[in-house]
Amino acid sequence: MAEISIQVNGRQQKHEAEPRTHLGDFIREKSRLTGTNLSCEHGVCGACTVLVDGRPVRSCITFAGACDGHEVTTVEGYDDDPIMSRLRTAFSEKHALQCGFCTPGMLATSRDIVLRLPDADEARVRIELSGNICRCTGYQGITAAILSVLQALRDQPDAQVDALRAAVVQNVQQDWNQNGFTTFDAVQEDVQAPAPVAAAAPAASGRADKGKGQAIQGGFDARFPADQVWAFMKDLPKVAGCLPGAMIESQEGATVQGKIAIKFGPMSAAFKGNAALEEDNERRAAVLRGEGVDSLSQSRARGDVSFQVNPDGPERSRVEVELVYSLQGPLAQFSRSGLVQDFVRRMIAEFGKNVNLRLEKPLAEGEEPVVAEFNPVKMFFSILWDRFKGLFRRA
Ligand code: FES
Ligand code: FES
Repeated sequence: MAEISIQVNGRQQKHEAEPRTHLGDFIREKSRLTGTNLSCEHGVCGACTVLVDGRPVRSCITFAGACDGHEVTTVEGYDDDPIMSRLRTAFSEKHALQCGFCTPGMLATSRDIVLRLPDADEARVRIELSGNICRCTGYQGITAAILSVLQALRDQPDAQVDALRAAVVQNVQQDWNQNGFTTFDAVQEDVQAPAPVAAAAPAASGRADKGKGQAIQGGFDARFPADQVWAFMKDLPKVAGCLPGAMIESQEGATVQGKIAIKFGPMSAAFKGNAALEEDNERRAAVLRGEGVDSLSQSRARGDVSFQVNPDGPERSRVEVELVYSLQGPLAQFSRSGLVQDFVRRMIAEFGKNVNLRLEKPLAEGEEPVVAEFNPVKMFFSILWDRFKGLFRRA
């Protein structure tokens, strides 16, 4: 237990709490502010959204300890907020609440939309709201309420709201200058990697274990014969050199220890762990079974990356890749998102580009592999842009 001090709705709250206590539980059980609702407790539904230092945060997957010394605003604390008073009126006028369970989280997200996106149209509002689930399916009314507040502020600007918007722009600018793409940071701790997995690995099958969770398929074309590509793909240090953000720290036979760092929009992770490669030479197939812990969020990941090299004529081949993975901990909120699926497929494509490059220009004896160049922010925006265009194609 440790004493945690958080300013909740302008009042200092000091309570003893376990390191594992989530902010949502701290607010409800220690501060006795029960307006914040907990539903999925996996960061998926948005019901528990509160503001931490003015930004919307999932309180069910944020540790209270990470908020020590910060300011939290819950639905009970918006009395003097000029945007929230408009939203409250609009929500009742546009019938934006039914049972009201999602409403505290919806209001926090709606306030954020009004603050950040003065010119948002209906399509943009719906995209922004997609992280909040209303089990009464009241999305029409909620969207209409937000749009009506945006329109009213365009028709008749409000000095108080303008001041809040200017502060947001300044904060975002500071974040970009200091950190690039970032959100509220969790406390960082050095977490031990789990024990090696090699001993527990089943007999070589070259196939991913489908019982492990979410599956994402992808693949790439190689401009080289299948046997040559297969020989390359079995060489773990060479393969790691083609995987953006990956690094092998040690290798013992077919077992490696290493890490992979990913920064993707609001998600930042640095997994450290072990992996073992099983080969099926006859099928030119292999599976890399790994598990690791993210030192930033303490999320645990287990996954199999299986691949098979198939000839595509005498001089070319096709590499089919499947990732089957499961996540536990704060990062699990991303595991079902379509955005992540797109992201992984593009990672595979990027990996394929690097494999082709390395086969074309093999490393000289003793030459260290250069860490593959990768721009996740550019990729993130390219995925968003593709989706945005898709919306218009469907309309
Ligand atoms: S309860 Fe936190 S996102 Fe669902
Ligand atoms: S109003 Fe009932 S869950 Fe949204």
